[in-house]
Amino acid sequence: MKAIRFHEYGGPEVTRVDDIPQPEPKPGEFLIRVVAAAVNPIDWKLRTGALKQYMPIQLPFTMGCDVAGTIERGSGKFQPGDEVYGFLLTLRSGAFAEFAIALEGEIALRPKTLSFQEAASVPVAALTAYEALFDRGKLESGQTVLLHGAAGSVGAMAVQLAKGKGARVIGTASAENLDYLRELGADETVDYRNERFEHKAKQVDLVFDMVGGDTLERSFAVVRPGGKLISVAGFPSPELAQEHNIEAKMMGVRVAGPRLAEITQLIDSGRLKTRIDSVFTLENGIAAIARNESGKSKGKVTISVQN
Ligand SMILES: NC(=O)c1ccc[n+]([C@@H]2O[C@H](COP(=O)([O-])OP(=O)(O)OC[C@H]3O[C@@H](n4cnc5c(N)ncnc54)[C@H](OP(=O)(O)O)[C@@H]3O)[C@@H](O)[C@H]2O)c1
Repeated sequence: MKAIRFHEYGGPEVTRVDDIPQPEPKPGEFLIRVVAAAVNPIDWKLRTGALKQYMPIQLPFTMGCDVAGTIERGSGKFQPGDEVYGFLLTLRSGAFAEFAIALEGEIALRPKTLSFQEAASVPVAALTAYEALFDRGKLESGQTVLLHGAAGSVGAMAVQLAKGKGARVIGTASAENLDYLRELGADETVDYRNERFEHKAKQVDLVFDMVGGDTLERSFAVVRPGGKLISVAGFPSPELAQEHNIEAKMMGVRVAGPRLAEITQLIDSGRLKTRIDSVFTLENGIAAIARNESGKSKGKVTISVQN
């Protein structure tokens, strides 16, 4: 089968479309015939070696975490022919390939209202946003949340989920994405290239940071005492957290099949939407990864693998 793999850590040049044997599912695993996959920053961050310390992998490595397809083999909660989507977090057999292996807890039946391409675009972004806002951030109705990177894939899910909960949402994005944030439901927007978010966000209950760096550092000052700062893009300083009397944590998303089933319901009832930037073939999948890495995509970059 065809699979996109990297053979050593490095830039895009270490990635190749290889012909490799189909993976063999062990008992308790499912073999998925991959119809569609989606690109996430984690794919190229694994390739550069930036995550080596936290997420050890075996080289050569088949890329891709977001998947949608049909069950080819395996038994348990899912049966051959079931149309599923999921987040392949265990990093053993990636989604940028004609076949992939999934654990039962990594997948759910796919939303009926979405195409396979759209379904593949959902799991990582939606699961990350949900866990950050509600499991870690404990966001409640009537509270205010500041979302850094609100027009990105995780951010767009976070805007919708936070609004669905009844929270007030302040979102940061570049100027060309501010209308998109308002369409998603943001109450206030900040053009981060030309405005300081500190002018609009004061004493917020929660900051969900998807940007890191200076944005993360400056965020401590806008959280109310007792509030929370959750980042998926950097490690918040424990000293600053203590100084501002807030809880500040870096989060690594955990996969959860039952949570994904909940997300399926939100999608099928029209309460959560996804946006596709572009669709690439598997043969041209290295360009798909480059498109996400460029930071210029508006929505998810997906890969059409097979019918
Ligand atoms: N730890 C975890 O478990 C986990 C899980 C998922 C994702 N992540 C991380 O979360 C981040 C976002 O992922 P994603 O999939 O949403 O990426 P994405 O779709 O590529 O979106 C990135 C967004 O960041 C925005 N951005 C860049 N610089 C910014 C700034 N200074 N202020 C505000 N927004 C800024 C861009 O907005 P404009 O286009 O408007 O400029 C862009 O929309 C990545 O770093 C990813 O690795 C971590």
